[in-house]
Amino acid sequence: MNILVTGGAGYIGSHVVRELIGTKNNVVVFDNLQKGHRDAIKGVTFVEGDLNNKELLDKTMKKYDIDSVIHLAADSLVGESMENPSKYYTNNVCSGLNLLNSMVENNVKYIVFSSTAAVYGEPKSIPITEDNETKPTNVYGETKLMFESILKRYDEAYGIKYMSLRYFNAAGAHISGEIGEDHNPETHLIPIIMQVALGQREKIFIFGDDYDTKDGTCIRDYIHVTDLANAHILALEALESENKSNIYNLGNGEGFSVREVIDMVEKVTGKSITREVSGRRPGDPAVLIASSEKIIKELGWKPRFDSLEKIIETAWKWHSNNPKGYDE
Ligand code: UFG
Repeated sequence: MNILVTGGAGYIGSHVVRELIGTKNNVVVFDNLQKGHRDAIKGVTFVEGDLNNKELLDKTMKKYDIDSVIHLAADSLVGESMENPSKYYTNNVCSGLNLLNSMVENNVKYIVFSSTAAVYGEPKSIPITEDNETKPTNVYGETKLMFESILKRYDEAYGIKYMSLRYFNAAGAHISGEIGEDHNPETHLIPIIMQVALGQREKIFIFGDDYDTKDGTCIRDYIHVTDLANAHILALEALESENKSNIYNLGNGEGFSVREVIDMVEKVTGKSITREVSGRRPGDPAVLIASSEKIIKELGWKPRFDSLEKIIETAWKWHSNNPKGYDE
């Protein structure tokens, strides 16, 4: 199979590519390198381009005779999406449509889509199953939900089969320490705490300690990026063998508060982390914990990094070996 990975040079994309290498598939990465890193995807075919360039997409589909797409290219910051919704509707919905239209025109039938727990908003019950009501509290989640609706209609009308993977909080780094998380500016919790551990930042601000949770800080379900990556391969195989669309949650099924994550980084790194409580971040739900029973049962997905400690150990290996990320 010839697989196009959009956003393949990004944090999650590069880990997906890493897992695809060594399978029977040929991998073509399509990435505009706005957030991605060329050094994260050594040894695979690379097309530098933006999804708003339909002509280049069409050309790429033809040139590499693409059979399936793994679509990760998107903007993905909850806070930014509330301040700049235009960017999110344009890049996540309009540019994504170019990709789907190019698939239709080039007879590409399968797509694995990078969706998010943010489609649920404030969940009605915990753990969250796939049939929970979808009511995003932020623009980012809304754009991913809109794209899921589009996928459903493109399946009905054009027969494109999709797997929508609703990620909870991707974290950690490849076990080799060779690839990992490197955003500029960094906004995610674990890499920011790592920067404090490395002395690159004075302290971590806790965004709100007045939530209705055990210690007042937000609770999230952290899933290792390689476990997440492997789920893409299972999803793709299921699409090819069963020709049926589906939606799956991906998390570890356990929630950790912001304070618990900070404490775990202190334990793993042996460094003391200065913290200060600041105001809530708009759009943040209090608790997000996944039920991933469906993908475990139906696709046989098995997370290897099933504890926060293991996840943070791999993150620390990457950050301590590459304190400047890919700019090293
Ligand atoms: N947080 C802080 N201080 C910081 C950064 C984050 O307290 O400096 C808190 C946030 O408020 C949140 C938690 O730490 O409660 C995790 O925040 P992240 O920014 O690391 O991750 P999010 O939960 O906001 O979002 C991530 C992905 C989204 C995805 C979501 C699903 O970035 O794409 O997980 O759970 F939708």
